[in-house]
Amino acid sequence: MVNGLWRRLVTWQGDHGRKGLPWQGSRDPYRVWLSEVMLQQTQVATVLDYFARFLERFPDVTVLAEAPLDEVLGLWSGLGYYSRARNLHRCAQSVVQQHGGVFPGTAAELAQLPGIGPSTAAAVAAFCFDERAAILDGNVKRVLARVLAFPGDVGTLAAQRELWAHATTLLPGKADAAEMPRYTQALMDLGATVCLARNPVCGRCPLRADCRAWQKGTPTAYPVKTKRLTRSTQSLWLLWARHADGSVWLVRRPETGIWAGLYALPAFDSDEALRAAVPTAEDAALAERPAFKHVLTHRDLHLHPVVWSVNGARKPVVGDGRWFAAAEWRSLGLPAPIRRLLEAG
Ligand code: ADE
Repeated sequence: MVNGLWRRLVTWQGDHGRKGLPWQGSRDPYRVWLSEVMLQQTQVATVLDYFARFLERFPDVTVLAEAPLDEVLGLWSGLGYYSRARNLHRCAQSVVQQHGGVFPGTAAELAQLPGIGPSTAAAVAAFCFDERAAILDGNVKRVLARVLAFPGDVGTLAAQRELWAHATTLLPGKADAAEMPRYTQALMDLGATVCLARNPVCGRCPLRADCRAWQKGTPTAYPVKTKRLTRSTQSLWLLWARHADGSVWLVRRPETGIWAGLYALPAFDSDEALRAAVPTAEDAALAERPAFKHVLTHRDLHLHPVVWSVNGARKPVVGDGRWFAAAEWRSLGLPAPIRRLLEAG
């Protein structure tokens, strides 16, 4: 089945795929790796600015490896999923220390580096070295599951292995390895622009004639997922200690959990816990701000800012933190909702 499907994808990419993105047409693994990590959970439109700023500050892997982690986190601020930035930095250091500053040239070796999973490794190897390596990110899983009307639950390891085997079978043959970059981009583009999760635009799909899910009339029944994503909610009270000179008190978050390792306002599980952290004499200096919701992948956060207007000496407030002048906190890697709050003033 689906013989020569890759050729239709390659032709379609040439006619309808995304072109002219700043990391396309590059065979530089540093740029391609950086773009792929940024694109893992973030849309192209958002990544564009970050990608440009990163390259300006860190033009190659050695500069990135030598930069302080806090600066990397600062430039990442707003992209979310900060473990990506931490791994990016660790990966750059591995490339410098273990590979003499040159990215290894195969997907298998790339996948050994911190933060590079098998799909990202395959993407870099396909884009930069024409390697016949199959990608299988969320978008591509959806495309393949539909084309094959794949019955397995894609949440299981067994199904993932099977899909990966299918993905490998569908690759261009050895004689056509030079098409790997365009083929890989085609799969990504199809998943992002046509084979959409909720409203697939089958009328524009180059694979429609081969698509078993389309033939059955039920494209959105695939990929099969039996386990529901369980969302939870959490409320946090944020102590926003502000000095009259414009500085704010920030603490570093623990290495695990929400906003791991980032600076943030001190957070408490209740209003009472927050107030207990402030001297009673200062009660009158506390002012509640309207609560707002911030949506994380698996959780809705309800955030309740409480401003503490501090005058006089800048004493320590609470936890393992310090006062940051306005110019300082602006360059830190802050969680997006905290940054927005502070910037709105
Ligand atoms: N998403 C992941 N990788 C991508 C790429 N190279 N181009 C566009 N979107 C992507």
